[in-house]
This record gives sequence, structure tokens and C-alpha cells, in this order.
Amino acid sequence: MTESERDSAFLRACRREPSAHTPIWLMRQAGRYQPEYREIRSKVTFVELCKRSDLAAEVTLLPVTQLGVDAAIVFADILLVLEPLGIGFEFTKGDGPSITRPVRSARDIDAVASEIDARESLSYVLETIRIVCAALAGKVPLIGFAGAPFTLASYVIEGGASRDYLHTKKLMYGDEGAWNALMTKLSSAIIAYLNAQIEAGALAVQLFDSWIGTLGPADYRRYVQPHVARIFREIDRRAATIHFGTGNPALYPLMKEAGGDVIGLDWRVDLGRTWTELGDVAIMGNLEPAALLAPRAELEQRARAVLEGAAGRAGHVFNLGHGIHKETSVEQAKALVDFVHESSARR
Ligand code: CP3
Repeated sequence: MTESERDSAFLRACRREPSAHTPIWLMRQAGRYQPEYREIRSKVTFVELCKRSDLAAEVTLLPVTQLGVDAAIVFADILLVLEPLGIGFEFTKGDGPSITRPVRSARDIDAVASEIDARESLSYVLETIRIVCAALAGKVPLIGFAGAPFTLASYVIEGGASRDYLHTKKLMYGDEGAWNALMTKLSSAIIAYLNAQIEAGALAVQLFDSWIGTLGPADYRRYVQPHVARIFREIDRRAATIHFGTGNPALYPLMKEAGGDVIGLDWRVDLGRTWTELGDVAIMGNLEPAALLAPRAELEQRARAVLEGAAGRAGHVFNLGHGIHKETSVEQAKALVDFVHESSARR
């Protein structure tokens, strides 16, 4: 890590140190809202784009140059780790991800690999990280990421996106041993993958538990928290860690207990009050992503409200409460980044 990386607004905030301005990046900051992304994507499929490290690196760097965000996040997907585990998937046009053969029985779970060689099987993501880090030349840090075990398990069990997660809960409640076996295999792969990303140059890593909000606190504590706590214990300490989840504010204290230097909040909670309740941890969030579709004055008023919730406390990473919508204009995203930088500047 270079001096300027260590001293970057983003990594300072992850360590809860004061910085010259509040750092900002946007979840899904590389994607379909950008004309340049759509142009590249018109020539290759999404998975091909992830596997072509030269193109993936180009796409990763776009928001850094275009928007001036304080961190890059490697262009990849949470499902890529399933391939070395022996779980096939594809992205179908319009419908999102689809698992070839959903994993539902103890026998299906036995067939999932216990370990992965991330350096070998996910070498293309690591190569993207190396290209991006060389191009960034210490200017802003790069974030690596993985899906959290519950969110990944929900995809592999349901076979795709879900509303009520009934297959997942049926396995969880009906065969706790098989559930834990699957969660253990996923967690081992996640740890190997994140540590390989850190070795390749990622200075922070984010665990995305995007669909965790379907669980209540007692189920989270019993079926999920031990696995997530293990992941945070085994991540290489050189990197800052971000723990993000959506959908159920009652889970944030339990997510904090499980680990993460930074807790990522969705837009459904009041950032200031939630931070006060959580106490000694850095906070990422939490602008309503649809605010980027509002008129400029309304967008700025809502961004100001998020900054006021943080109230100048050290350790705020500004972000959306979830991914940027593809209907967003690049100009609005840039206006948000500029607004946060200007109105949080501390002289
Ligand atoms: O933030 C970034 O810029 C990095 C890129 C990134 C992608 N996926 C690229 C992507 C990240 C961090 C992810 C994580 C991811 N993938 C999550 C967790 C984050 C979240 O939003 O909750 C989840 C749940 C997935 C699974 C996934 N991949 C979904 C549900 C979809 C959308 C399906 C669709 O068509 O709307 C994807 C595809 C995907 N991942 C796209 C991008 C840019 C769109 C692909 C395209 O070009 O068609």
C-alpha cells in the first residue's frame, strides 16, 4: 500500500479517522447507466465481459475518471465463485441470474466442492485487479468483493431471484446439518476468493448480503451469523472490510457483531440514529438510489440530509443504500459526487 492510498479519504473513513472530505463511491458504479458500458456490453455477454480482464479493467476504471469517486470496485459478479464450486449458472436476458441445477437436497450439497483454488479458477478476476491497481497508480484504492453465504445460498437453492425464499427456508428449518454444510462450503470459498483478491491488490473488500433481510433476527443469529463471523475472522487483516445488508434494520446490530470495519446500510433507515445505536463502527450509506432520478435540487437536499445524519462524525463512507438504477443519468451521478465532495469539505 502506498502512502497516498493509506491516506486516502476512503481508507481513512474505514479506519474512522477524519478526512478532508467525506469519501463517496456508488454500488454498481460500473454498469448499464453508462453509455460507454452499454457500448462494450453490446459486443460481449456479461460473463464474457467479467472474464476478459482487459475489458473488465476498462469498465472498472470508467466511474473513477467519469465521476471522480473515491474508490474503484472490481468489475465482476457475486455468482462467479459458483463455477469452481461446480454449480453452473447463466444470465438470461431480462430475467437475471439462473442456476442450471438448483441445490436442494443433502445429496446435492455433497456434490458441491469443499475447497476452491481461487488463484487458478478465478484468475481472471485477480488479473483485472492487477491491471486496475497498476492503472490507478495509488490514486484511489480498489475494493474487492464477494457475495455473503446466505445471499449466495439463496441463489443456488432457489435457482434464481426469489420473493419468499421458500426452498431456502425449507432446507434451513428441515435439515440444519445440510444447511450448515452448504454454508460452510460457501464460506470457505468466499474466504479463499477474498484473500486472493487482497493478495492481488484490493485494499478493501465488501461482503454483499443483499437478500438477508428476508430473515428475522433469531434466524439470522442461528443460521447465518456464525458463518459470517468466521469469514470476517479469516479475511486477511491488511484489507479494510465492509459488511453490507439490506431489507431488515433489526439485523444491523447482529451484522456488526459478526464483523466488518464498516457496516453498509440501505435507505430504509435513518443513518444518524442507526449509527448512534450501533456505536463504534464506520458507516456506509445510505441515499435512496431513486433519488438520482429526482430533480437536481431534490437530489441535493436528500444528499445533504444523509450528510447531516452523519453529522461530521469520522468514519462515514457516502454511498447509495443499494445499487444505482440503470435509468440514472451519468450527469446526475456526477452531480452527486461533486455535491458530496463540496458540501463535506473540511478546511
Ligand atoms: O459495483 C460495481 O460496479 C461492481 C460490479 C458488480 C456487479 N454485480 C456487476 C453486474 C457488483 C458489486 C455485483 C454484485 C452482485 N451481483 C450482487 C450484490 C449487489 C447487489 O446489487 O445486491 C448481486 C445480488 C448480484 C447478482 C446479479 N448480477 C444480479 C441480480 C444481476 C442483475 C440482473 C439484471 O439483468 O438486472 C446481475 C448482473 C450484473 N452484475 C450486471 C452488472 C453490471 C448487469 C449485467 C448486464 O450488463 O446485463
